[in-house]
Formats: sequence, structure tokens, C-alpha cells
Amino acid sequence: MDINQDRENISKKLDIGKEILYLTKTECQNIGVTYEKILELTNDALVAHGKKEYEMPAKIGVHPLEEVFFHAMPAYVPSKKAVGMKWIECYPNNPKKFSLPQTTGLLILNDILSGCPIAIMDCAWITAMRTPAVTVLAAAALHPDAETFGMFGCGVQGIEHVRFVVKRLKKLKKIYIYDVVEAASDNLIMLVQPEIQVEIVKGKKPQELAEKCEVLSSATIIIKETLSVVKDEWVSKGQTILPCDLNTFWDPKISKRADKYIVDSKEEHELFDRMGYFPDGLPRIAAETGEVLAGVKAGRTNKDELIVCSNIGMSVCDVIVGREIFDIALNNNIGKILPL
Ligand SMILES: NC(=O)c1ccc[n+]([C@@H]2O[C@H](COP(=O)([O-])OP(=O)(O)OC[C@H]3O[C@@H](n4cnc5c(N)ncnc54)[C@H](O)[C@@H]3O)[C@@H](O)[C@H]2O)c1
Repeated sequence: MDINQDRENISKKLDIGKEILYLTKTECQNIGVTYEKILELTNDALVAHGKKEYEMPAKIGVHPLEEVFFHAMPAYVPSKKAVGMKWIECYPNNPKKFSLPQTTGLLILNDILSGCPIAIMDCAWITAMRTPAVTVLAAAALHPDAETFGMFGCGVQGIEHVRFVVKRLKKLKKIYIYDVVEAASDNLIMLVQPEIQVEIVKGKKPQELAEKCEVLSSATIIIKETLSVVKDEWVSKGQTILPCDLNTFWDPKISKRADKYIVDSKEEHELFDRMGYFPDGLPRIAAETGEVLAGVKAGRTNKDELIVCSNIGMSVCDVIVGREIFDIALNNNIGKILPL
């Protein structure tokens, strides 16, 4: 469908320039976008990124308090007619301080031809879905035959990572999980074990996961200080490590000595480096995740390579998933149409 036809279709339901569609988190969540669809859309986003068929500047942000950030994340993906911006916060102390999530925010979508806003939707669910989808797509490309997966952090992201990972790592026999708060691990097992065949094992210590798992991910907290919870000596050749929490959780020596350090966005990682999130320096970047998925650059080239693939999050994924939600909502009269 061309861009004019697309606009015409939207106009049948929405008076562009005068109205917007508003969607809550629950509406986004219940709209019927399946895990498989999220994987497909996220793959499309990564491949578009890998082929450089997108526009997405590195995040800009403001930092009202120590160790918090708001990010403005605009993106345009022509193949999906998706243009918009995610405005998201990361307040690591929200759960303890206010019993609120670390991450909340909104996604705005716009009409490409007039520029007018056409939708505002919650972006917490989109973020909770597209982030593990990136990890899992990268894991499947870099380590498809893994039998063990380890997840550090059993909150929103950790839970969804475990749900997603079984959909692409088909040979998994065990999933090890660890959270500094034991109740979070128990909660993950309670929620996810009944849904999946692969056994979920609660790890006793981070070392156990680091030593037992071929593929590992972490979604804990992002701060400038490197906590080095996982020590360099626990990690060995052939493993694939996929942090969602940048440089905080793992001993920075691991990324420095990895055979390949792959990142979702070079620009984003360079930006975080300039902000001080890599006190030991940014490791040399071998490729971007999307380049590997698009076949533009090599991923794993032998089974002994230690690979770190750091995915800090890209708005190309958000606007594509958001656009899918918008289309379904509009066609099914879901959400509230509000005057501009
Ligand atoms: N890369 C991305 O695209 C992306 C997207 C969203 C969130 N994130 C990041 O992922 C992280 C998790 O987000 P969330 O929404 O799941 O948060 P959450 O608060 O729901 O879960 C985080 C979990 O990590 C645990 N944790 C904290 N420190 C730990 C430690 N030292 N060892 C083990 N467990 C620890 C907490 O107890 C908690 O259960 C945050 O840092 C967030 O910024 C990244």
C-alpha cells in the first residue's frame, strides 16, 4: 500500500489534524498482537536498521535527578510507514520508593504526509515486549543450538525474556534465573512455568548461572557505576551474553576481551559512553545486531567465540510495533478518539 492510500485509510476513521487515537496500556496489551507477531515485527525493525533503511538519531535525554533519565526516541521506518517518538523514563529506584515501575512512558505516532499526530499510546507494554524480542532474535542468530539460558533480573523484562526465549531457542533444556530479590524469582516461576515446557531453575548465586549457561541475558538496573556482579573468571569461551542493562551488571573486562562485541546501535552506545556509562571505555564494536540479522555482517563464526551483544533499545522497534497496534485499534474501534 502506498503512502497516500495508507493516509486515506486512516482518514476513514480519524480526522487527521483534528483528532488523535489514545490507547491505554491494557488496550495495547489486549489488542491481539501475539509473541510471534512481536518477533516478526522486531525482526523487520532490526533488519531495516541493519540495511540502513531508517532514520533514528541517538536518544537525547534529560536527567532531573542523579541516576535517572528521560529519553526522547524518534524514528522513521519507511517500509512500515511508521514515524513517531517514544518518550520514556528510567528511574531505577521507583519500585522501592514508590512501588512503581522503573520504566513508564508514551509513544506518539504521526501521519507521514501532514506530520500531524495521529496516536498517543502507553509504551510500557511495547517496551516490555520488543526488548526481549531483540535479545531472543539475537540469541537465535548467534547461538541457535543452545540448551541452557540464564536470566539475571526477574522483573518485567526478565519474565518476558523467559516467555520469549522458548519461542526461538528450540533446543533449550533448562532456563536458570536469578534475582537479588528471591520473591521476584519465585514470581517468575509461578507465572511462566505453567506456560512453558522447559524447566525453570532458580539459581542460588550469579556464579552458578554464569558457569552453567551457554546463553545469558540481564535486565536489572542501568547506572553509571559498573557493579560487576558477574566476574570475568566465571565466563568462558563459546558463551553468548546479551545484556539489556548496558554496562552495569557484568565485569567490563568481559566485553573488552570478548571475541565480538555487538551492539544494537553504535550511535546509542557511543552516546552512553560520552555520558559516562562506560567508565572503563567502550569496547571495540564488531557489528550491529541488525547487521547480523540482515546478513550484512558476520555473527558467530566459530563455536568458541565469546560474544557479548548489548541491546540498549531502539525506537525503530517501538514505532513499528506501535504502528501495528494503531492499525488494529483503528480497524476495530479500540481506544478513545480525542480532539487535538
Ligand atoms: N535495553 C532495553 O531496550 C531496555 C528496555 C527496557 C528496560 N531496560 C532495562 O532493563 C532493566 C530491567 O527493567 P525492568 O522493567 O524489568 O525492571 P524491574 O524493576 O521490573 O526488574 C528488575 C529486576 O532486577 C532485579 N535486580 C536488581 N539488581 C539486581 C542484581 N544486582 N542482581 C540480580 N537482580 C537484580 C530486581 O530485583 C528486579 O526484580 C532496567 O535496567 C531497564 O532500564 C532495557
